[in-house]
Amino acid sequence: MYLIFNLKQNKDLNDNEHYLKSICDFLDKFPPGDTKLIIAPSTPYLSLYKKYLDKYSYVGVSAQDVSKFNGGAFTGESSAFQIKDYAKYCIVGHSERRSNFGESAKDITLKINNCLENDIKPIVCFSNMDQLTTIPNLKDVLLAYEPIEYIGGSEAINGDKLKEFHDSTGISQQIIYGGSVNQENILRFVGLSFLSGLLVGGASLDTNKAKKILNLVASL
Ligand code: PGA
Repeated sequence: MYLIFNLKQNKDLNDNEHYLKSICDFLDKFPPGDTKLIIAPSTPYLSLYKKYLDKYSYVGVSAQDVSKFNGGAFTGESSAFQIKDYAKYCIVGHSERRSNFGESAKDITLKINNCLENDIKPIVCFSNMDQLTTIPNLKDVLLAYEPIEYIGGSEAINGDKLKEFHDSTGISQQIIYGGSVNQENILRFVGLSFLSGLLVGGASLDTNKAKKILNLVASL
């Protein structure tokens, strides 16, 4: 099962180094089972995360975003051909990017294409079906359902509601769920056959909570 830690715009260099040291000490003794851990730091720290995490076969680094342009005169942007040197995954279309940066289905489609052309697996976030049906290239991506009302809180969706949503979509592939998943509620999601993983934001910032989450998932 995928466990994706989305660190969002948190942690400076010092905090990231502490975080990585603590997580690596833990991973050195961790029996992963079928857990696939993916950590998404802010762009300036991708190379640091790669350096620390490369030795774990079951751990990957993800970017949190990628440019819709493929390089060139776009100040401030990071292109997929640059990100691919550090990250095998990239979150695309997170609701915070859709709402704060006006990302459209067209932008997201371009970003997905750029990732796929550079062997980066896109983790495409969506909060409702309209956001999915407007994107044509979803064949080789991970789909992460993140209902806006559950993001950034302490209450996650319940399993029945999540299943109801999945059944109503007609999506045959498994999905990832994100939205207030933490060490207290994670077990309700483990074992749901339509889920391939969980995307954890706030709770993944704290190493104690992150380790608890990893232990709980791997113990089942
Ligand atoms: P949250 O964030 O776990 O803090 O709700 C999830 C996300 O936005 O990816």
